[in-house]
Amino acid sequence: MDSRNGSVSETPLDAEIGSFFDSAPPLKDCDGIAKKLKDFIEFNSPPPGKGSPTGVVCVTSGGTTVPLEQCCVRYIDNFSSGHRGATSTEYFIKAGYAVIFLYRRGTFQPYCRSLPEDSLLECFECSDDSAIQVRQPYAEAVKRAISDHHAAVAGGHLLKIPFTTIFEYLQILRSIAMSMRDLGSHAVYYLAAAVSDFYVPWKSMAEHKIQSASGPLDMRLVQVPKMLSALKKAWAPMAFCISFKLETDSKILLEKAEMALKKYRMHMVVANELSTRKEEVTVVTGNEKILVCRDKTQSDSDVEEPLIELIVGRHSAYVKDSDL
Ligand code: PMT
Repeated sequence: MDSRNGSVSETPLDAEIGSFFDSAPPLKDCDGIAKKLKDFIEFNSPPPGKGSPTGVVCVTSGGTTVPLEQCCVRYIDNFSSGHRGATSTEYFIKAGYAVIFLYRRGTFQPYCRSLPEDSLLECFECSDDSAIQVRQPYAEAVKRAISDHHAAVAGGHLLKIPFTTIFEYLQILRSIAMSMRDLGSHAVYYLAAAVSDFYVPWKSMAEHKIQSASGPLDMRLVQVPKMLSALKKAWAPMAFCISFKLETDSKILLEKAEMALKKYRMHMVVANELSTRKEEVTVVTGNEKILVCRDKTQSDSDVEEPLIELIVGRHSAYVKDSDL
């Protein structure tokens, strides 16, 4: 077995994946992350029984960056606010799952969506005796965010791991997959992060800030290997896998989602269009296309609530089938 990607015999894709990881800069605090993952999985894998979680979900959220310089000043970014991942995390935890939240630094966080964007400055004020207090209009929202968030983390149901670059994201995703391996069908991957398709290999990357005086920039980007294949075939063959397909042209969306479902052997592909992604998504499975919409009669409703309800139902059926 190839220790880099867990595959049994090397295919061209395995070689591409191997070369991606071999040439990536070493992950900072690799051992610390592995320890946190080990403890979290151990805590959340008691024998099935009263109060034990239904499974562990790896939720990925936010966009990966592609650095253009090793001492990075410039980078290519991928669009994702992290709203989908953060909100979905809350519903998975509410449904009894433990969540590993792999998120891009600076993006939306679980339990914080009812707070204003600049929450530190907006929600708090200094009184005359220099004590910090919550401003009245935000009192309820701040209290709820803090208590729900702390309960999830302290209760061992939420582990948050940040990334910035494509190198960090894929190295951590692989570590998560290795840690979750023994969970079998109880492991769920909900891959909402927007992942770069092209990158500059570390070894061919300029060390220092690229100088504009050198004239127009000519740079070759290499294709990032699709990790969905490695995840499904080698890293987590028993896991329940949900990937996302984002398009801006609605005419090609469902066709691309169906292609991804078949090619990467996902259990579900959530198809969304950029402009309507907060209103509706279409869940593509082997034999269905299910339109999932936000309840438009409620101003504070979101599409993630019915989406996670659907996924939880399908995952439970999958676990039952796998246990037979
Ligand atoms: O964060 P929000 O603002 O709320 O927006 C949510 C979202 C629109 C970002 C989210 O719902 C979404 O669609 N995320 C996936 C976007 C995306 O990157 O699509 P893609 O076509 O590039 O990739 C499809 C799948 O392949 C993804 O699940 C991705 O994890 C995976 N992938 C992509 C590239 C790569 N090299 N390897 C991969 O495995």
